[in-house]
Amino acid sequence: MNSRTKLGTLGLSVLTLSALVAGCGTAANTATNTTSNGTSGTQNASGTVDLSKASGTVVWAASPIAQTGIRKTLISEFEKTHPNIKVQLVELPNNTDTNRQSLATEIGGGATTPDVYMGDVIWPAQFGQNQLAVPLNKYLPSSFFNRFASGLVQGASYKGNVYGAPLFVDSGFLYYRKDLLQKAGLQPPQSWEQLMSDAQTLQKKGLVKYGFVWQGAPYEGLTCDFMEYLTDAGGQVLNSQGQPTIDSPQAQKAVSFMKSLITSGVSPKAEVTFQEAQSMNVFDQGNAAFLRNWDYAWSNSQNPADSKVVGKVGVEPLPTFGGPNGHATIGGWDLYVNPHTKNLNASLEFINWMTGVQAQTILATKYSEIPTNAAVQNDPQVKKVNPVLNIVSQVKLVSRPSQTPSYPQVSQAIYTNVNQALSGGTSVSAALKKAQQQIQSAVSGNGGL
Ligand code: GLC
Repeated sequence: MNSRTKLGTLGLSVLTLSALVAGCGTAANTATNTTSNGTSGTQNASGTVDLSKASGTVVWAASPIAQTGIRKTLISEFEKTHPNIKVQLVELPNNTDTNRQSLATEIGGGATTPDVYMGDVIWPAQFGQNQLAVPLNKYLPSSFFNRFASGLVQGASYKGNVYGAPLFVDSGFLYYRKDLLQKAGLQPPQSWEQLMSDAQTLQKKGLVKYGFVWQGAPYEGLTCDFMEYLTDAGGQVLNSQGQPTIDSPQAQKAVSFMKSLITSGVSPKAEVTFQEAQSMNVFDQGNAAFLRNWDYAWSNSQNPADSKVVGKVGVEPLPTFGGPNGHATIGGWDLYVNPHTKNLNASLEFINWMTGVQAQTILATKYSEIPTNAAVQNDPQVKKVNPVLNIVSQVKLVSRPSQTPSYPQVSQAIYTNVNQALSGGTSVSAALKKAQQQIQSAVSGNGGL
């Protein structure tokens, strides 16, 4: 049985999938003992890669995911089942914008490593358009992609090619201090207006320093937060013709509310400099009643090494204007392969394992990530230990308009101008007008890359 046949059989059932993935590893190890090394991708007659030849080193560039130890745990489990493949970790910073720029520059310049890199779900258009990632569907059979939960493969595609193998899904959630709400006789808020007034109540009672922390710095994370308020208010960044509609009463409502969180003192003044790490830290230190953050914030807030609020945290879908059940931006990270890699076989085998049952179960149970592998996502044992998975079905997901290769400019126009409005450097309406013009210029092809 060649590996195309093996991979083609994957996804039939959880049992079959894990058994075959394990089988794949064994076959690869036997085969590679007799081959020199896996220095280049070997294509079989049908055009897919023969993973049984996989060996050698995979250089994997990745940011910390939920906690710094996680990447090493995954690598060591992978190496146990793949003794002929070594994975070398290149540690990337947390900030998605910094990662995008440095990877695009390196790979665009022809660098042969990293072989595999963790990249944001918003990158397929830009990276596909600029040949910065391998179209995985050219090398992996369509059955490989059946393991993923619905919609994820489409999200990782651009113009008919799949550029990323979904590694984990991120969704925005509302984290709250159960103990503080209980003391004040409050329920978790279902509307933004209620959150604001509950936060003020808790602050006035002297129970907590800040009401609500989120991501307000001028970077991609602010675009994510803004999308949630904008969609809750009934607005859009681009209409169905791809034209900007951000200079709207709905966006005015969204940004004005975000700004009022700061001017009212519910959110700290420093909010306009907060990325995920800063907001997480304020919450973990016990200094905020509410936090907007991604799935991993659950495991982070329950880790005694980082958090003073272990056992005191609850998680709910984000509120909306008028409530209940607000929108949550869909984020997450994929695994991409460098088109200049010298080790395509081992890179693909690494991706195969990372999106398989074992790795996905580790991500979901230890680090409260939403797994991309549908079988793991639906596993009752996994749900038992990951409270985020139990409420994710109530969340209304909203995507960023990242299907255009000029999305980096679109997002930059959003976060720069919204941040200006939040810090009081400009009025909300002037900020939205400017964002509208800049997005117009980006989508008409004047934005560059
Ligand atoms: C998270 C999300 C990613 C998003 C980023 C913004 O990492 O997974 O999609 O772009 O946050 O900071």
